[in-house]
Amino acid sequence: MKRFGTAWLTTNRNCNNNCSWCYAKNTLGTKAVMDLEQTKIAVDELKRRGVKKIVLIGGEPTIYPHFFELSKYIAESGIQVSVASNGRKFANMEFVTKTKEAGISGVDISIKAITEEEYHANTHSFGLKEMLKGYHNLKSSGVHVSTSYVIVDDDKKHFDDFVSFLEREQIASVFIQFVKPTLSLETTYEIMPLDKMGKFVTYVYERLSKTNIDYTLEISFPICLIDEEIWDKLLKENRISNCCHVPRGSGINIDEKFRVLPCNHFAEFPFAETPVDFADQTALDKLYETAAVKEFRATARMYPAEKCQTCDKWNICGGGCFTRWLMEDPNAYIK
Ligand SMILES: C[S@@+](CC[C@H](N)C(=O)[O-])C[C@H]1O[C@@H](n2cnc3c(N)ncnc32)[C@H](O)[C@@H]1O
Ligand code: SF4
Ligand code: SF4
Repeated sequence: MKRFGTAWLTTNRNCNNNCSWCYAKNTLGTKAVMDLEQTKIAVDELKRRGVKKIVLIGGEPTIYPHFFELSKYIAESGIQVSVASNGRKFANMEFVTKTKEAGISGVDISIKAITEEEYHANTHSFGLKEMLKGYHNLKSSGVHVSTSYVIVDDDKKHFDDFVSFLEREQIASVFIQFVKPTLSLETTYEIMPLDKMGKFVTYVYERLSKTNIDYTLEISFPICLIDEEIWDKLLKENRISNCCHVPRGSGINIDEKFRVLPCNHFAEFPFAETPVDFADQTALDKLYETAAVKEFRATARMYPAEKCQTCDKWNICGGGCFTRWLMEDPNAYIK
């Protein structure tokens, strides 16, 4: 029986933001939401398969009509439930109280901008004040709250301003990611080149070393694009995370129509168009035996370039997030 550690449930695709670089951009107009009773059946089946943690994601999960009821069901099943959110709904203290009562163990708030003007430019909404209020409301209520931030360009001045923003707003820790491609037949956002990401890590390290901010850096591109000395320091200081479950196959991503996605970034490309019937205990095993899943998993584990075959960093690097190599030639970067 295929077992999993963590499951991501796409409760809904709609969102109260519309971020320019959102990898799920082309699905945000989808009206469908997860049917509550079917989701409960899916939760039971995930529990049977060893899932210990469920992350509610979207779209924006806090606008899912059954947000509290589903969270409570998951928590009462003995599975840890957390939420990936833009944080805006937590500006309402009553919402925070209900979050706590529902047994939600943690909320990760993604910081979309550092001024209200920039927030609007990036997300087409004015949500910065709400997000900040949400962060502090959660913190004061004792709900575990973490933050994340996606670097989309190598503007040093802007990064300095971001660091000052964290200090001013008393946000003591942050998970830093670099932008990934929107996998879509209609790609709408041109992303930062990978070699620039590598070089910018040096600036991120040097700037954050001058602060008390506790940060973790998600490495989703080839480590060999990072200065070796800086890489060694980041490792020694325990600043690195490669939380991708795809090569290990330890996670499962389910969309609002109960289709299994290769990962959250494949919002438009489920393994199969037919929804999984979670009431059938053989359904997931049958899906994981299909050619589509086997081929995907083999591709995700492949060396993107010859140099990776003998590289001592392979286990931590994995050649970077493989979604990048669906859009670019790895040999142009890994030399
Ligand atoms: C799609 S969002 C869904 C949850 C919630 N609406 C939010 O914004 O946090 C999940 C996470 O993916 C991040 N994200 C979105 N587009 C991305 C991209 N192109 N590259 C890297 N991270 C991205 C968001 O910033 C957020 O942290
Ligand atoms: S808030 Fe989250 S789901 Fe909504 S558009 Fe932004 S990144 Fe995408
Ligand atoms: S595994 Fe490949 S991409 Fe990663 S550092 Fe080594 S050579 Fe570079």
